[in-house]
Order: sequence, then structure tokens, then C-alpha cells
Amino acid sequence: MTSDLFPGHYHLVAVKTASLNSYSNPNHAWAKMLAEARVMKFLDDLPSVPRVFGVFRQGDICCMVQEFIGNTFSLSSTTFLDVLRTGQPSLSALECISMTSEVVIALNEMHKRGILHNDVAARNILIHHDGTSYRAKLTDFGMACRVEYPRGNRKVIFSSMDEVIQYMDNHPEVAPEKYIDGACDSVSGDVYSIGYGIRIVGVAIRHSDMVEFGKACACFDAEDRPSLDWVINILDIYKEKEKSNPKCQGINGP
Ligand SMILES: Nc1ncnc2c1ncn2[C@@H]1O[C@H](COP(=O)(O)OP(=O)(O)OP(=O)(O)O)[C@@H](O)[C@H]1O
Ligand SMILES: [Mg+2]
Repeated sequence: MTSDLFPGHYHLVAVKTASLNSYSNPNHAWAKMLAEARVMKFLDDLPSVPRVFGVFRQGDICCMVQEFIGNTFSLSSTTFLDVLRTGQPSLSALECISMTSEVVIALNEMHKRGILHNDVAARNILIHHDGTSYRAKLTDFGMACRVEYPRGNRKVIFSSMDEVIQYMDNHPEVAPEKYIDGACDSVSGDVYSIGYGIRIVGVAIRHSDMVEFGKACACFDAEDRPSLDWVINILDIYKEKEKSNPKCQGINGP
């Protein structure tokens, strides 16, 4: 008997679970997880989407097995929101802009393949170090749907402007037409959400142009929001400027 490890490859995995009992119709939990896994499989070739290996049910728990995204030694995962809140890990402005761009590229490709994400938010972006640099992966496709079959949203009845403002504060990345008019999910709804993300990254790295551009992407009128091709071009310009003349501070502490 030898203590040598067998050579070969292995995958570290993360298992997302949902309890069938948490739904009034248990089949919904299973159907929802299957749909999420199908979307991820459909996007399997995109570098900024985690691989999915399969789904299974064990008793009343549904499980989805995905590629683990995070620190493979401490087995901890970090979201973009964690980074913005804690300043850890300490990232340069260029790294922040590059990771934002990676997410926009993935979202744009999803849209081109006819899928809306519908839950783009810093809490749903995982970051990890690939040995050379920090990379971002867009995750949580539980709300995704096909562009041609968008879901309607719940129109919220507000009794005062203060209530509207409070709702916006609590759901900052949700496009306002969704809760003010009950508008359906849309490409421009995803653009609003990524625009909000661009804005908060811009604030964190003190990049005033990025803050203003994020605001323009997350403007009130859905028709005025830019295309994601345009967003990618603008982020490329910010990246190039940062490479040749770094002037923004990174995120380095609370
Ligand atoms: N592939 C993964 N690798 C490592 N950690 C992951 C992975 N997928 C998800 N996680 C961890 O689980 C958390 C929740 O994942 P996800 O957003 O997909 O589920 P959720 O049901 O929407 O939960 P929540 O409501 O907390 O967002 C993530 O913030 C991350 O910490
Ligand atoms: Mg989530």
C-alpha cells in the first residue's frame, strides 16, 4: 500500500439546496431548481458563469451541484457585495472595473441567447482568484426567464412619495417600472440592475465618470438606458485609462 495520491483532476463543488417543504406545492421547488440548472447548463461555456454538474433530490431536499467559486483552502466564498462592504480582499480600481466588465459581458451574452437574469446584484456575483488575477462570476439564475416569455412583476401601491423613496432604497437594483407599473422583466430591467452595480463600484473606487455612467444606465426611463454593447465599450475605455494612468484608489478597507 502506498500513501501517494493518484494523479488526476477533481472538482471542488458547492451544493445549492432548497427544501420541498418551503413551497406550498413541493413540485414547484424541484421545477424551479431544474429550470435554474438548465439555464446554467445553457450558459456553460461562458467564463463568468459557474459550471453546473447536476441536480438530485434527497428526501425533501433538492440539490444542485455546481463548481465551487471561492477560496479553495478556507472553503469560503466571497461576493462582490462582501468586497464593497468590507474592503476585503483589497482590490485595485482596475480589478474592480475588469470584474464589472466580465459580468456585463456574461449578461450581454445571456441576452443574445434569449435569457434574462432578473436578479443582477452585487450579492449574486462571486469573486475568486484564478492564480493570476481576481475574476467575477455571475450566479443565482433562480429568477431567469426567456426574453420572449417575460414574467410580469407585482405592482406596488404607494400612498405617498416617501413610500416610493423608501421602497427604492430597499430595492435599489430593481428597475422602478417593475414595481411602479408592474412592468414585465426585460433587457432594460437587467441594464438598470447592472447600472446600479456600476454606480456602486464607481463610488467605492472614487471614479466619478463611472458613477455618472452607472446612473445613466440606471435611469428612470427604460427607453433611455444604453445597450450592453455600449456599456462594455465604456468600461473598456475606463480599463485602458486605468492601465495607462491609474488615478483611482482601489477598495482597501471599510
Ligand atoms: N458556486 C458557488 N460556489 C461557492 N459559493 C456559492 C456558489 N453558489 C452560491 N454560493 C454561496 O451561496 C450564496 C447564495 O447563493 P445563491 O445566490 O445562488 O442562492 P439564493 O438562494 O439566492 O440565496 P440568497 O437569497 O442568499 O442570495 C452565495 O452568496 C454564495 O455565498
Ligand atoms: Mg442570491
